[in-house]
Amino acid sequence: MIIEINDIHTFYGTSHILFGISMEIEEGETVCLLGRNGAGKTTTLRSIMGLTPPRSGSIKFKGKEITGEPAYAISRQGIGFVPEDRRIFPSLTVREQLDVAKKAGVGNWTVEKVYELFPHLKKLEKHMGNQLSGGEQQMLTIARTLMGNPELLLMDEPSEGLAPLVVDDLMEQMRKLKKEKITLLFSEMGLGFAIELSDRAYVIDKGQIQWNGTCSELKKDEELKRKYLAV
Ligand SMILES: Nc1ncnc2c1ncn2[C@@H]1O[C@H](COP(=O)(O)OP(=O)(O)OP(=O)(O)O)[C@@H](O)[C@H]1O
Ligand SMILES: [Mg+2]
Repeated sequence: MIIEINDIHTFYGTSHILFGISMEIEEGETVCLLGRNGAGKTTTLRSIMGLTPPRSGSIKFKGKEITGEPAYAISRQGIGFVPEDRRIFPSLTVREQLDVAKKAGVGNWTVEKVYELFPHLKKLEKHMGNQLSGGEQQMLTIARTLMGNPELLLMDEPSEGLAPLVVDDLMEQMRKLKKEKITLLFSEMGLGFAIELSDRAYVIDKGQIQWNGTCSELKKDEELKRKYLAV
């Protein structure tokens, strides 16, 4: 197991948001966390990352307890996070943003290797962050996170706000990424993007895991989809 989340409860101030979330992911798996607006997807990813630490429960990464550690320490141990709002630097070029993101780690990502995964970024190498489209920003955010050599990559609604053709590109890139030695956990509201990529799915609603299984099982379950998913 690369990550074991056991019965976490997370709060924003006095608001109780996650009610005993448990998830387990094997090394190399691609897993999606599906749920509607406000279900608790971002809060779950923020809890793992240590940005909004759970108040109780346990999170073990590669067998080691990380609950309560600060986000930078968790990141350094090999967890990368691509947030929903792509925080790129407007006044650095694409190349510069990749260069500054390079960190030592188990992986061996280089700018050249990242360009193989995202050939389009190479073409944009000299462009400034503020000249990029939404899809290009998303690619850059993922590429930049990979430069930190994560073993587990968390992505919050990667397809959100992207045009359908751009989503197809992103799917292709994530398919290539799956072949690398990396474990992926990403959130989505609907099944469309997730079903193409995931080995397994967790469905979250009202801060609790309501179901888990394979995406193909989920696809056939009309009631489950109607109840918990957007489309
Ligand atoms: N900073 C905050 N302070 C208080 N409550 C918050 C805060 N952020 C989120 N919440 C609440 O926590 C619940 C879960 O929100 P979360 O952002 O995790 O949902 P989500 O599944 O990511 O939704 P979305 O699809 O809209 O991104 C919601 O009820 C939301 O209103
Ligand atoms: Mg969210």
